[in-house]
Amino acid sequence: MGAALVTFPDPVTSPFDAAEASAARLAEATGVERHDVAVVLGSGWKPAADRMGEVTAELPMTELGGFPEASVQGHGTTVRSIRNGDRHILAFMGRVHLYEGHHPNVVAHGVRTAVRAGAKAVVLTNAAGGLRPGMWAGQPVLISDHVNLTGHTPLLGVNDERFGPRFPDMSHAYAPRLRELARSVDPELEEAVYLGLLGPTYETPAEVRMVGALGGELVGMSTVLETIAAAHAGAEVLAVSLVTNLAAGLTDEVLDHDDVLAVAATSAERMGTLIADIVGRI
Ligand code: HPA
Repeated sequence: MGAALVTFPDPVTSPFDAAEASAARLAEATGVERHDVAVVLGSGWKPAADRMGEVTAELPMTELGGFPEASVQGHGTTVRSIRNGDRHILAFMGRVHLYEGHHPNVVAHGVRTAVRAGAKAVVLTNAAGGLRPGMWAGQPVLISDHVNLTGHTPLLGVNDERFGPRFPDMSHAYAPRLRELARSVDPELEEAVYLGLLGPTYETPAEVRMVGALGGELVGMSTVLETIAAAHAGAEVLAVSLVTNLAAGLTDEVLDHDDVLAVAATSAERMGTLIADIVGRI
């Protein structure tokens, strides 16, 4: 008996213990005791990981425990340990989404693992629809703030003070210091408010008008829960959207995930350099 009974903590009911356990496995598998910065690469952002430094280890996320198999096309399932100068970067080559049917704590497990592994800064990337006039497909935009309309939060239930407070402040969830640093790397970077929806449908034109009325300038299906979890756990967050399309109803185009990925692929090199430069200076 004995060893077979050792079970991995459930990220849904024991998110802190699960994050600790995954961080321990990460250190063991990579030989890196602490990672300084985590990067989550969303749809089409994966090529950016090739530009961040020397990949010293790559393993399936599932090996860390607490992660489900990723399912959506364009999302990988590995995590890389990358050395950039004296920094160790943890790059998630894809993410878990709510619309795949996962609990918010599972969506947040990667970010929480990164924080328990030492990351003081978390860089989140995604693909998004753009609403603001003048936005164009292929444009990277810094997220300045968000509206969480997913109807979910990774802070539901008894608060674990080992992560952070019951009622975390969100006034500076997207760290002004990191946004400034990003703009010093690329002065043309604009900022916008990201509105997070559950998905997986793209929005109806009426929903896009609602998003605009609520102050959203970017719309997408990820990021907000990870930001909440990271901010709760005390990490600085930087988030960058790649505008892959104008939001539904703003053009005559039909939205298609393949087109989203194609735009992302065209911009991959530029995005990779941007993120690598920013991460190198965090
Ligand atoms: N809406 C929601 N998510 C998205 C979009 C969009 O228009 N484009 C890329 N991800």
